[in-house]
Amino acid sequence: MAVGNPNRPKAEKGVLRWIDDRFPMTQMWQEHMSKYYAAPANFWYVFGVLSLLVLVNQILTGIWLTMSYEPSAEGAFASIEYIMRDVEMGWIIRYMHSSGASAFFIVVYLHMFRGLMYGSYQKPRELIWLFGMAIYLALMAEGFFGYLLPWGQMSYWGAQVILSLAGAIPVIGDDLMIWVRGDFLISGITLNRFFSLHVIALPIVILALVVLHILALHDVGSSNPDGIEIDKNKDENGKPVDGVAFFPYLVIKDLVAIGIFLTVFCLIIFFFPEGGGYFIEKPNYEPANPLKTPEHIAPVWYFTPYYSILRAITYPLFGMDAKFWGVVAMGAAIAVLFVVPWLDRSPVQSMRYKGWLSRIWLIIFVISFFILGYLGTKSATPGRTLLAQWCTLLYFLYFLLMPFYTRMEATKPVPERVTD
Ligand code: HEM
Repeated sequence: MAVGNPNRPKAEKGVLRWIDDRFPMTQMWQEHMSKYYAAPANFWYVFGVLSLLVLVNQILTGIWLTMSYEPSAEGAFASIEYIMRDVEMGWIIRYMHSSGASAFFIVVYLHMFRGLMYGSYQKPRELIWLFGMAIYLALMAEGFFGYLLPWGQMSYWGAQVILSLAGAIPVIGDDLMIWVRGDFLISGITLNRFFSLHVIALPIVILALVVLHILALHDVGSSNPDGIEIDKNKDENGKPVDGVAFFPYLVIKDLVAIGIFLTVFCLIIFFFPEGGGYFIEKPNYEPANPLKTPEHIAPVWYFTPYYSILRAITYPLFGMDAKFWGVVAMGAAIAVLFVVPWLDRSPVQSMRYKGWLSRIWLIIFVISFFILGYLGTKSATPGRTLLAQWCTLLYFLYFLLMPFYTRMEATKPVPERVTD
């Protein structure tokens, strides 16, 4: 007797057939692997898979760290030292996790840059971009909560600076700050809640968003550096002529990228785990001391572009102080990324066929982002603040002028078939 849904592909016999009668395993394998066709794209398309790899690394090393970590103000710092010195292989697990956090942001930033360069967010991939942005927000929260856990000086004072931003919100600011901290100052209670958000709540949210991100991608199909929909040219069997099956062809291609990434990652973990004070900041080797403010407080490098934007706003306006507008500017700098699919009005998708205005603005944006990032790691001087103000202006102009320059400029004709 036939069991289950007869209208889906199933294995002929055996255990696989038994499963297929009860669960769409063969169907899912075909849809997402053996019959998922994509154009073999270039170097820039490996960072999605690398983000997945780093996500798995963070989850696995995180589970093992949690086995020996103690989430209390009295024990947190010492438990990290215990992991580093006494726990078998503890040092490598800790470095895989702490350097892994920086690696996560490096691959995600490159992945986002690819999106901006090749217009991957354009119709019909807007939702993939929106899920991506939601992942990015969750990832920033994950990084922020995680950084408090070692309970070092920079953990404590970095969190102090960022949490105090809530105080800039009119009327409810001060109460909100106490509510978030769970205390009148950052204490073991704050550490406990950051711990639970970092190890349970946000990983669940990030995993769920990644599943949605990839389901949305596999519904509309992957793009390519030419910005051509490969579904437009199919052979008699319904297979896109410019596409190859994800399994095995693109999996093998991704394995090469994974090999190169792991080599670089191992070099960092073995020889350069603190990233010159960028992955683990030097003051974090001192236990948190609420009575001693470090001379210079800077967030970890992946937050510094936004931190610079926050500090670049130095003028009060409409009765609100500069800190309030700094927080607004920082929020706007992230929020504007969400609407990129609707700011880009170009008739073509990829930078290959856009005009020189789009290219120049993308370059200006990247340079401003780097300079802002660098300035955010340094203490503010009048000269640096002025530079940060110019870069903040250019950062926003890239987005705000996008509807105009993408429509005005002359574009090149897009070929019928994928050129790579
Ligand atoms: C944990 C973080 C993330 C993971 C694991 C992830 C994973 C992936 C994977 C595996 C792909 C397909 C391969 C590729 O095109 O590179 C992809 C595509 C894509 N991702 Fe992500 N992603 C993440 C974050 C983001 C973020 C932050 C954005 C942007 C805001 C984003 C935007 C996109 C877009 C637009 C595509 C479609 C690319 C195309 O087909 O042209 N992703 N992602």
